[in-house]
Amino acid sequence: MNTATILRQKTYLQDSVLDTLNKQMGVEARSSAIYLSMSAWCYAQGLRGCGEFFRKQAHEEREHMMKIFNYIVEAGALAVSPEVTNVERTFDDLRSIFVMALDQEIEITENFNKMTELCQKNRDFQTARFLQWYLDEQREEEWQARRCIEIFDLMNAKDALYDIDREIHNLKKKD
Ligand code: FEO
Repeated sequence: MNTATILRQKTYLQDSVLDTLNKQMGVEARSSAIYLSMSAWCYAQGLRGCGEFFRKQAHEEREHMMKIFNYIVEAGALAVSPEVTNVERTFDDLRSIFVMALDQEIEITENFNKMTELCQKNRDFQTARFLQWYLDEQREEEWQARRCIEIFDLMNAKDALYDIDREIHNLKKKD
């Protein structure tokens, strides 16, 4: 029996849990790519604050992916490097980007809820505990995405694009 097979047999990660973790790596990678695309679009419109906001967001999503990667590796299982294709390159306007970002975050939160449920059903409390970090993180991610839409609507669209751009930039100032 080779080393890889022995290690796989000794990991506590059950196949269904490993599979869901690997799939989520793909979701985080895709999320990172979409945010980077949003960032590029914003910079191209002269919206440097929003470009910076989404650039940081893209970086955070990659970190989320790597955190799962490290967890799988440390458990002695095989992490699968995800493939990301068909990433949107063009967007209608800034508000539609904010709405898309919020939808994306809500979907990701739902993924983590389902993953946690799966871990609990399989009595994998270790992974359920690991996933708690993501649930906490999602609370902040959703809040930020909602806040972007609020800021946009409160400042009332086109006439205030410069000010909206500055406010969105301030949302990530603490980073
Ligand atoms: Fe990694 Fe924004 O979820």
